[in-house]
Amino acid sequence: MAVVTLKKIVKYYDETLAVRGIDLEIADKEFLVLVGPSGCGKTTTLRMIAGLEDISDGEILIGDTVVNDVPPKDRNIAMVFQNYALYPHMSVHQNMSFGLKLKRVARSEIDRRVQEAARILDIEPLLDRKPKQLSGGQRQRVAMGRAIVRDPAVFLFDEPLSNLDAKLRVQMRTEIKKIHQKVRTTTVYVTHDQVEAMTLADRVVVMNHGVIEQVDTPQQLYHNPRTKFVAGFIGSPAMNMIPASLLDSGSGLKLDLGAGVQLQVPAERTAQYRPHVGKARLLLGLRPEHLTDTASLSQAGGVAEGQTFSPIIDVSEPMGMETLVYFQLQGITVCGKASPDVEAPSGKPMQLTAKLQNMHLIDDESGLVL
Ligand SMILES: Nc1ncnc2c1ncn2[C@@H]1O[C@H](COP(=O)(O)OP(=O)(O)O)[C@@H](O)[C@H]1O
Ligand SMILES: [Mg+2]
Repeated sequence: MAVVTLKKIVKYYDETLAVRGIDLEIADKEFLVLVGPSGCGKTTTLRMIAGLEDISDGEILIGDTVVNDVPPKDRNIAMVFQNYALYPHMSVHQNMSFGLKLKRVARSEIDRRVQEAARILDIEPLLDRKPKQLSGGQRQRVAMGRAIVRDPAVFLFDEPLSNLDAKLRVQMRTEIKKIHQKVRTTTVYVTHDQVEAMTLADRVVVMNHGVIEQVDTPQQLYHNPRTKFVAGFIGSPAMNMIPASLLDSGSGLKLDLGAGVQLQVPAERTAQYRPHVGKARLLLGLRPEHLTDTASLSQAGGVAEGQTFSPIIDVSEPMGMETLVYFQLQGITVCGKASPDVEAPSGKPMQLTAKLQNMHLIDDESGLVL
């Protein structure tokens, strides 16, 4: 069990600046997920923690020890990669025990640990099989088993589910969460998939171009993104971002979205937003679920607490639980979520309610949520 601390970590590959001074503290027993688009520096960061990559500047601590110059095998970490790298000629048991044998752990202890890991992973009947006799999901478990038997201070995962098909990925996601609840080992998990990040993590680190945009719980990231990047990256369908100007109407503030659409800003936001009246390049950030059809809102007895307008719907997509509706505003495609019971024919207007108590006001110039 261990705390992992990153202090001002920088990584250059020749001239490429891959990681630009990251500060991060990973708590003991925490499940921390690094998420971000391809090339943002996730794998590099993980490999520096593992000791597989030199650090250009800064310090990494595992527990109280600075490990910058400690070789990977002495860092007490275990890493699970995207390709599981199992030995094809060895049985599951041998694959899991190999590392311990090299460390000259006693045979009875090896057996105890392998049995225990097999029990946690629910692969006890597979111990005598070879990797080629296993499904993708089972191989994934063996790769995790190999990490668990080492009883490391820290687990490092790099996109471990990327090779699995969509259904299995969702299953294994739940499995990994269960396993962490059992073993409680400090875990750093890398993925480009924001849903995977949100479902697994105690805290999520959103990375972009080698910097950390935000570190927060999944709930906080979703409801209180601090930057435009995080607002757009977390959530699917993505948050709408509509160019807007902020007006002081005398009776509070209004958002002008163009095309004759003006929405009243909730009174409780007036003080917060007033300094931005008249500013150029503002965006209204509003998630699709906060732009819903007025008809079903009033049916549900919920007084339409929000602002209504009636765009012409271009396309509607019935999803079963809800229907996504798309329309154009100032050349931008905007997505709303309507009740599945409401008709949403393309080419016809639909009255929508914008729940601006959930709005975000984004400064497109600084990229910050105001
Ligand atoms: N061995 C390497 N040599 C040179 N550049 C690299 C190397 N590994 C990664 N990079 C570069 O560093 C940046 C971060 O890469 P990486 O950490 O692999 O991103 P991610 O895992 O988030 O997709 C990218 O611009 C990538 O091209
Ligand atoms: Mg990567």
